[in-house]
Amino acid sequence: VEPLTRPTPLTGPATPAAPAGRPPTAHARLRAWVAETAALTRPDAVVWCDGSTQEYDRLCDLLVAQGTFVRLDARRRPRSFLARSTPDDVARVESRTFICSERARDAGPTNNWRAPAQMRAELEAVFDGSMRGRTLYVVPFAMGPVGSPLAQYGVELTDSPYVVVSMHLMTRVGTAVLEHLGTDGAFVPAVHSVGMPLVDDAGEPVADVPWPCSRTKYVAHFPQTREIWSFGSGYGGNALLGKKCFALRIASVMGRDEGWLAEHMLLLRLTSPQGRAFHVAAAFPSACGKTNLAMITPTLPGWTAQTIGDDIAWMRPDADGRLRAINPEAGFFGVAPGTGPRTNPAAVEMVASDTIFTNVALTDDGDVWWEGLTPEPPAHLVDWQGQDWTPDAGRPAAHPNSRFTVRAGRCPTIAPDWDDPAGVPVDAVLLGGRRASTVPLVVQARDWAHGVLLGATIASEQTAAAEGTVGELRRDPFAMLPFTGYHAADHWAHWLAVGERLGAGAPAVFCVNWFRTDADGRYLWPGFGDNARVLAWALGRVAGTAPAVDSPIGLLPAPGSLDLTGTDVTADDLAALLAVDVDAWLTETDLVREWFAGFGDAVPPQVLDALGEVRRRLVGDG
Ligand code: PEP
Ligand code: MN
Ligand code: NA
Repeated sequence: VEPLTRPTPLTGPATPAAPAGRPPTAHARLRAWVAETAALTRPDAVVWCDGSTQEYDRLCDLLVAQGTFVRLDARRRPRSFLARSTPDDVARVESRTFICSERARDAGPTNNWRAPAQMRAELEAVFDGSMRGRTLYVVPFAMGPVGSPLAQYGVELTDSPYVVVSMHLMTRVGTAVLEHLGTDGAFVPAVHSVGMPLVDDAGEPVADVPWPCSRTKYVAHFPQTREIWSFGSGYGGNALLGKKCFALRIASVMGRDEGWLAEHMLLLRLTSPQGRAFHVAAAFPSACGKTNLAMITPTLPGWTAQTIGDDIAWMRPDADGRLRAINPEAGFFGVAPGTGPRTNPAAVEMVASDTIFTNVALTDDGDVWWEGLTPEPPAHLVDWQGQDWTPDAGRPAAHPNSRFTVRAGRCPTIAPDWDDPAGVPVDAVLLGGRRASTVPLVVQARDWAHGVLLGATIASEQTAAAEGTVGELRRDPFAMLPFTGYHAADHWAHWLAVGERLGAGAPAVFCVNWFRTDADGRYLWPGFGDNARVLAWALGRVAGTAPAVDSPIGLLPAPGSLDLTGTDVTADDLAALLAVDVDAWLTETDLVREWFAGFGDAVPPQVLDALGEVRRRLVGDG
């Protein structure tokens, strides 16, 4: 992937920062906002980023000099780095994530709400002087190809060079964005500070640390004014503000207001043995194998897969009545542990060079390692906290939420046209969670409203990607629980409205569950590349070639319609994978009703009707 900008290096010394110079834009509002933010946070210097390779390399050198980055061995892992965070800054902080809509009601029951005026006062207090001794980087970025009808623009102001280089990989940074914005183009202002000034209250210099952050944290969103303010964390989802904060929380509000969808979904192209290309958008809660599915190597003969995105999809009804989707990002910020030659061979190849690793382990020969990369761990490692580690240490060498950050173009399965400004038409929507029981391997929604019910009631076991107790079940509607920037039930209503607009052109909707187990806790489904078998059935439904049987909870694969050739899935396994236990489902519908009660009268009647229909059929068939 080429950098977007002409390679115009910044002037001035290589480190630590180039002088402010003149802002390379005549955008008055942007210039005024940068000046205002600098007046509040008082950095030593302001640097406008151009997105060039030289800028990236210079900042990586700076990060090495500051001790934030370990440069990995150039022969084993070219142009790659390891960062180690502090132990308390390893994940998104949902308890400190705020939606500051004018009305509390509009944040809904699943978000933390703060009145905008109150939050502004709190933020002004913490950002006051927060960048003293540091450089403020101005990072203009695009979400989506610059100029695409589906793209949006943002500018992140950050005092973290780690954030700047990560934004280089994850978004389209640079001068092309400023040119596109012209003198008054719309952009989302996003301010980020690690919150550890290098000057104390008496004005005396304070030593820097490799991973500066603050115990006080805020990840605050202002949906009405489309602003983001993030304080105190250097970690991905809290600090790379184009990703969860903009592309999901703020963009979901934009989409609600403008008739499109910003979703926590991978985008995948599957091509059948007959050569027909299909596009799938799929939502899974964090760390449920979404990146693995996005980079799937199908085991089903004749099928091929190409990656378009692994985390976020922006989708809008087009002139032909199809749902058109882009991946607004330009890179992958994936969970390292569990990524290995069997689970995700494409990702293993992808991170062979030009990758920033965070909180994985360091090998004695200057390479990286994490649980699942190889069956046997090396005899000695330096763990994610910088401590000596041996296989008998009794603790993981890599943090469970350790990450790789890499450009999309590095992915061997990336679609050659993944960044087509026109996007791709979505044929099928997949909604999944991690459920040991009850939910079958795959079920097709009877209609769009039933599909919205399936999305609204996704549940998954808690993962390491956020704070909380690993293992407990939590509902995660559309896998958007921590990401919808407005009332979750209004999000379901918005899905209904988009479906109404699409009519017959709407994608088919499926619920999938790769994680069903037998009584001994053994996974019934092999997963990974074999998930293509489920996708092939779902796309056969789209094409009108795959038969289904009706059930109280939706349409299940007809006997013989799932191709299991070459797997060791037995007939009993398949029966268990597709079993609909009426009692378990009656309990499930009770739990859903209870959970819906928490959304008051905001739950759309069509979704309640779809639930009532499932219930009626369960009782009728039971
Ligand atoms: C993140 O935590 O920054 C992130 C991208 O989250 P997740 O992988 O949980 O979607
Ligand atoms: Mn995600
Ligand atoms: Na996370």
